[in-house]
Amino acid sequence: MHYLCSVEDLADGKLRVFRISEGRSIVVIRRQNTFTACENRCPHAGAPLDDALIRGNTLTCVWHGFQFDLCSGACLEEPDEKPLSLLSLCIRDGKVYLDESHTPSREHSK
Ligand code: FES
Repeated sequence: MHYLCSVEDLADGKLRVFRISEGRSIVVIRRQNTFTACENRCPHAGAPLDDALIRGNTLTCVWHGFQFDLCSGACLEEPDEKPLSLLSLCIRDGKVYLDESHTPSREHSK
């Protein structure tokens, strides 16, 4: 597992970008005690999601305004659009880890 940060380092309703390796970064979104992670790349045209807007369970990409459901990753504008590439997180002892040993689940609660 890859340590990311402590739970307290993630602000409610915000996303934070983590550089995982050369050329790869991910975003982690906290919504109260629910945590979601995805690749830092919009499935529509590849925009980085650093400046994406979070409102409720929806992420909006700033390039073309497509909205994605943070629970399922699905694109809300175009049903045929690829979903967000969701990643598995492990929350343990107040710490947030990227867990790449499991098939991604949709959400993670503390
Ligand atoms: S690149 Fe994100 S909506 Fe187009």
